[in-house]
Order: sequence, then structure tokens, then C-alpha cells
Amino acid sequence: GAAELGPYRHYMQKEIFEQPRVIGDTLEGVTGIMPELFGDGAYNVFKQIDRVLILACGTSYYSGLTAKYWIESVAKIPVNVEIASEYRYRDSVPHSNTLVVTISQSGETADTLAALKHARSLGMEHTLTICNVATSAMVRECKLAYITRAGVEVGVASTKAFTTQLAALFLLTLSLAQVNGRLTDAEEAEHLKAMRHLPVAIASVLALEPLIIAWAEDFARKENALFLGRGMHYPIALEGALKLKEISYIHAEAYPAGELKHGPLALVTEEMPVVTVAPNDALIEKLKSNMQEVRARGGQLYVFADVDSRITSGEGVHVIRLPEHYGLLSPILHVVSLQLLAYHTAVARGTDVDKPRNLAKSVTVE
Ligand code: G6P
Repeated sequence: GAAELGPYRHYMQKEIFEQPRVIGDTLEGVTGIMPELFGDGAYNVFKQIDRVLILACGTSYYSGLTAKYWIESVAKIPVNVEIASEYRYRDSVPHSNTLVVTISQSGETADTLAALKHARSLGMEHTLTICNVATSAMVRECKLAYITRAGVEVGVASTKAFTTQLAALFLLTLSLAQVNGRLTDAEEAEHLKAMRHLPVAIASVLALEPLIIAWAEDFARKENALFLGRGMHYPIALEGALKLKEISYIHAEAYPAGELKHGPLALVTEEMPVVTVAPNDALIEKLKSNMQEVRARGGQLYVFADVDSRITSGEGVHVIRLPEHYGLLSPILHVVSLQLLAYHTAVARGTDVDKPRNLAKSVTVE
């Protein structure tokens, strides 16, 4: 009810603003990296596996896609990420030394549970879940677990569950790296420091809300939007597009920016807003040339850049700067700005933000 919402207009907004706290809660008590964060026996499991299979649906699938970039880069273990409803119904090649990771806010999603059972029926017994509900079927069914502490999420469009999943998946990345001999003590200390600073860093992204509201006024008048990202921010672009379509009903698609010329560029006109996730990483120069391809067709760029990146506003180029560079954890910050953009666009359009048409919070039937 209204009392619970406090100063916020919708649960979604409240849940977006809870992220500094729930990320802190999710990482509470983590004083060092160790496999046992995921349960007893995790060390032996992590020692035996040589690949990872992630199974999830919806927003949880996108946190899994982000984790693929982390695990392959930091732990050097190959990762497959599969949409649960596809995986369960296709022929795949099982491998017994696989760590099967399910990701689920509710822990009750029918397709994800069925995909887990399918993996097990193929002889893959090493199962781990990243889940927000300790008493759920998913946690009961998996040998290992990390319980995120997002708290109850009411908004159908997932926000705080996603970022807490990412925090847990980063811990998994570091734990796998450690067991694989890929994490020095100095690196561990540095990553832990960055993780502890996340609540403050996220709060500084939330402070951009007034700037994002101004953009949302433009977006509310559009019927289409493109989202671009590269590398580990491509899944963040996917999540940003999903948020926008779910709650504002604007058709949105995400592309890895390098794919622009293989299709989506044909859609770019003055009427097409193009949201670009542009952290200051190794891909920034490539991304800038992708942005020029959009500008050359009259597309309107809305760029989330980092603090001192050399991307400047100008004709058809709008820039909001995130206050800090955040290295590997940057997806956790960039997604918050996209959540706010989707939220305020939906508010400006007057849709039912917390209960978008045709969607359910937890899909427990096929
Ligand atoms: C539904 C929800 C999404 C969620 C997805 C997976 O579609 O509306 O927000 O990402 O299910 O749910 P899970 O509980 O398994 O993360």
C-alpha cells in the first residue's frame, strides 16, 4: 500500500532505489573469496568441473549472459548460457564435468526447473543456483546455492533481483578463478574493495535521475528504440531494451554495436532513438565509429558514457555521464541508468508500471 511506498510512486521505482542496500545485503559477510560461499562441498565440485552451463529465463537469462563474459575472462572456464525453455526441448551434447548454474529470482519458474531436471537426466549432477528465495523449489533441487538478498520484489519488471544476481555471479566468477589458480591475493583484495564500494557507486547513478527524466520525455513520444552495447555491456543493452518494452510498450531491440550494419541500420531515421551503453573500456573507439554510423543516418543518440570519456554532446548526440569507471563491475552500474530510463518513460506514457499487461511476476506454468 501507499505507506510501504514511502516517497516513491511505484514499487519499481522503490526497488530501483533499494539497490545500494540490497547489493550491500547480498555481499554482507563476504570477507574473502572462497568456494564455500556457495555451500559445503563447493570446493570439490569447482575442482572437478571444466565448463559451465547457465540456464535461466527473462531478466535472469541476461544476468547469465553477463556472467559468461566474466567467467571466461577471469576464471578462463568456457560458459554456455541457454534459455531454459529452449534447452529443455533440444538435443544438446552433455558433459559430466559441467557446473550447471540456474539463475532465478523466484526459484519457481517452470521452464528453469524443467531445464535443470533435463540437465540432470543427461548425467550432469553438479548443480548450483543463484536464487532470491531460500525456500524455493530451485534451492531444494540444487546441490549448491547462493541466496541473493534483494528482498521481496513486487514490480513485474525485475530490477534489484537482477543486480543482486550480478553481484552473486561475480562472486562465483572469483571463486571459480581462485580454484582454477587464476586469482592472486592482491587481485582478490582489489575485487572485494570494488564490490564493497558498489552501494556508493550505485547511489551516484541514482542521483542522475533528473537528467534521465528529461530524456524519458523524448522517449515517451517514440514507438521504437534501439539499444547498443559491446562486450559485457551487450547483455546490459538487452536488459535495457527488455525493461523498456515490458513497461512502456515501446518496441525496443538491442544489438551488439558491431552488428549494426548487418541489419538494424536499415531502421535508423530521425525518428529512431538509439541508446548506447558506452563505458570507457577497450571497445570505446569501436563504439564511437558505430555511433557515427547512426548519426550519418540522422539517428538520435542517447549515450550513457563514463565520467571522463571523450564523447561529447552535440547535434543529435545526448550524453549522460556515469560518475565512476567501474571496470568489470561496470554492467551493474550501467543497467541502473537503463532501468531509470524505462521507468520514467513508462510513467510519462501513463502505463501500469508495476503490472504491465499480459505479464506475470513468476511464470510457474509452461
Ligand atoms: C518473468 C518475470 C521476469 C523474470 C522471469 C524469470 O518473466 O516477469 O521479471 O525475469 O520471469 O523469472 P525468475 O523468477 O526465474 O528469475
